[in-house]
Amino acid sequence: MNTNVTIGSLQLKNPVLVASGTFGYGDDCTELVDAGLLGGIVTKSLSLKPRDGNPPPRIVETASGMLNSIGLANIGVAKFIDDKLPFLQKLPTSIIVNIAASTVDEYCTVLTMLEGHEGIDAYEINVSCPNVKEGGLNFGTNCDMTAEITRRLRKLTRKPLIIKLTPNVTHIAEFARAVEGEGADGVTVINTVIGMAIDVRGRKPKLSTVTGGLSGPAIKPIALAKVYEVAQAVKIPVIGSGGIATSDDAIEFLLAGATAVQVGTANFVNPATGVSIIEGLREYGEREKISDVCELVGALQVSRKLSIIDSWI
Ligand code: DHB
Repeated sequence: MNTNVTIGSLQLKNPVLVASGTFGYGDDCTELVDAGLLGGIVTKSLSLKPRDGNPPPRIVETASGMLNSIGLANIGVAKFIDDKLPFLQKLPTSIIVNIAASTVDEYCTVLTMLEGHEGIDAYEINVSCPNVKEGGLNFGTNCDMTAEITRRLRKLTRKPLIIKLTPNVTHIAEFARAVEGEGADGVTVINTVIGMAIDVRGRKPKLSTVTGGLSGPAIKPIALAKVYEVAQAVKIPVIGSGGIATSDDAIEFLLAGATAVQVGTANFVNPATGVSIIEGLREYGEREKISDVCELVGALQVSRKLSIIDSWI
């Protein structure tokens, strides 16, 4: 089966990426995983200045999921360029750099600093971090703001620009259409779902920030419905993300309309999950006699008359 897929001008050798924040800057995990087998690596979010993130506790396990409130802890873009990019440049896979910021100007500055450097194949823009007071969801839940960030960044780069959307809105398709209209090359659907957990003995929230981002298998059905919604609303490729842990999970997302997928929380259980998913996808392709993985994209068979979601896309 041919496994190549494209997101704008980004050519991926296969549709399986590792999600931002679950594979570091690619250096520690690649001691454990053959990066050359992955479709690509999305780096941890980078901001202009280094960030310590939120105080602990900032990770809590939940039923079939994980709640986190990391607060965009990262080394900052300058140190990334000096210390991490030289290693990433040598990896035989696509590198997508994720950017987070508190202001539109900060997004622009970070992207401009990265622009002059080799080895970056695309940008993913995090407009949807649930765990910071400035920027984050204030941007991602405001359609005009999300469009403006895309418009400003589009002027600064010819590289593929992928906007990572939050599910914490009423109609995610409106956001996808808005960024498509401003020249985005793709959308990642979805970032984490806002959640909360309480310690009943101490009568306290389990996370220092009270709420956090829920990820893992618990959110897979939500992610799938959002991918299905967005894929019908826009022409640009959708990258599915949310609870993907097996090749069947990945195939569900492709059938719902995703061109590629990201493996996130499952990497904390086994950083080689993405590699197993690619193997499983190839086996499925052989069994089902599929010559090109793109045949699966949006191949879900639906009775449109009965689909409830179709009425508000
Ligand atoms: C963080 C950022 C995210 O985009 C997310 O979905 C979850 C957590 C963070 O760094 O806190």
